[in-house]
Amino acid sequence: MPSAETKNPPSDIALDLSDIQGIIASGYGHLSHSRYLFLQIEEASKAKGWLRSLLRDRHITSSLWGEKPPTAVNLAVTYAGLQALEAPAELLQSFSKEFIEGMTEPNRTRQLGDFGINAPDRWEQPWQPDTTVDLLLILQATAADLGALDDAYRAQLGPNGLKLLAVETGYIPVDSREHFGFHDSISQPAIEGSPKAEKTRINAQDLIKAGEFILGYLNEDGNYPSTPTVPVAQDPTHSLSLLPQTALKDFGRNGSYLVYRKIAQDVAGFRRYFQDTFSTPEERLLMMSKIVGRWPSGAPLVQAPDADPLGDRLPDNDFLANSNDFAYGPEDPQGFRCPFSSHIRRTNPRDSLGQDASESIKSSRRRRLLRRGAVYGDPLPEGVIEDDGQPRGLLFFCINANIRRQFEFVQQSWVNAPTFNGLYDERDPLVGYNPDGSLRTAIVPKEPLSQSLSLPNFVTLKGGAYFFLPSLSALTFLATE
Ligand code: HEM
Repeated sequence: MPSAETKNPPSDIALDLSDIQGIIASGYGHLSHSRYLFLQIEEASKAKGWLRSLLRDRHITSSLWGEKPPTAVNLAVTYAGLQALEAPAELLQSFSKEFIEGMTEPNRTRQLGDFGINAPDRWEQPWQPDTTVDLLLILQATAADLGALDDAYRAQLGPNGLKLLAVETGYIPVDSREHFGFHDSISQPAIEGSPKAEKTRINAQDLIKAGEFILGYLNEDGNYPSTPTVPVAQDPTHSLSLLPQTALKDFGRNGSYLVYRKIAQDVAGFRRYFQDTFSTPEERLLMMSKIVGRWPSGAPLVQAPDADPLGDRLPDNDFLANSNDFAYGPEDPQGFRCPFSSHIRRTNPRDSLGQDASESIKSSRRRRLLRRGAVYGDPLPEGVIEDDGQPRGLLFFCINANIRRQFEFVQQSWVNAPTFNGLYDERDPLVGYNPDGSLRTAIVPKEPLSQSLSLPNFVTLKGGAYFFLPSLSALTFLATE
């Protein structure tokens, strides 16, 4: 097993933290509650004035802070939002194809597996074709402070030419367990040069080049990510920096792409499946954990194959750091501990893709996602196996510098790929979806005989979009009349 590094290697990356929106560098662990306001721009000049006031009064949180901010405000924009803000044509054309086309472009929908019950025409508002989302205002606070923060911002919308289309409320439960009952957000990449990477103990495999998550910095391939630009003449107020060796200004620098998916979870169905299929509580717990790849406490099956070492006790930070310091190859080359098909072995295969461990690690490092999600809806009370009709699930957000290479690849070629890593006709057992609505197979390798599960769908997509999280200088550029 690779050893946890007690001291991170010194970084020569100087991130321009004052220009990077805070949500990129931090998950704001101390701000457990969030509100997401999905907005439409009705009057561009008023909206630009509002944006200028947010920037002038330092409302948008940057990644540079001395003390933990008591609240955090971040702003993301869709392609339609850039158009509504009258962004120059040259800038619009220079964004990545997937951002320009959006999540619901038909070919993309097919690739992402968003059909049948997950198809965009079945999504909730504001994701119906007759509605256009331009901006996403992300407000984060403690439970006690969220209401006041939300009120303050909602009051600003109408007078500033902004229409509120929809609101989502998310939170991180006290035990950090998502609705199916598993500790979430354990495995997170740390951005090289970020405060987190400088100050906390990071496992070597989680320390990832800044260019995987922020435009303007070198990525894992040793390249700069593709970046949206404007001709120098179109930035008369010099909000943006020059893209070296070009006559272009770099709009993308210090920004990133944000992927959003609202995923409903059928918790009653999930519990019922395991209750009906396995006779003892121990077997149920083991099989549930096999499809995730971790025990409910977060302990990985690779490290603890037989029983959850913590049970209902909450893990501390050391336990969590150790719980992400593993590879699959040395301990579990055949998936007897953690099945190849499990959610975590698919979404980050680490060293276990194919035969060449070092190639596998390289490939996995180029697909990392910085997850910034939160759960929505009240938990289904423990032991209940009938649906109570209440909405609940995950507001999945992830940050990546290249949507195609990172999020879309993970979703298409790992989560939803029936032949992932040599498997035959299996999809992600937790969040995968069978297009024809049939039960999904998941093989749990076991000796002397492997066990085959036939799983119903446990999740349904309710909406989603691709956003851009501009740097503070790019927001200043957009706000300029
Ligand atoms: C309702 C939907 C989902 C649930 C309940 C869920 C739950 C979980 C849980 C319990 C973990 C283990 C904790 C951890 O390692 O942080 C995890 C890890 C992860 N999930 Fe999900 N997840 C969902 C959807 C997704 C989707 C759609 C993606 C990407 C397409 C995704 C990507 C990941 C990644 C990258 C990891 C970390 C794997 C690792 O590095 O070992 N998840 N998820």
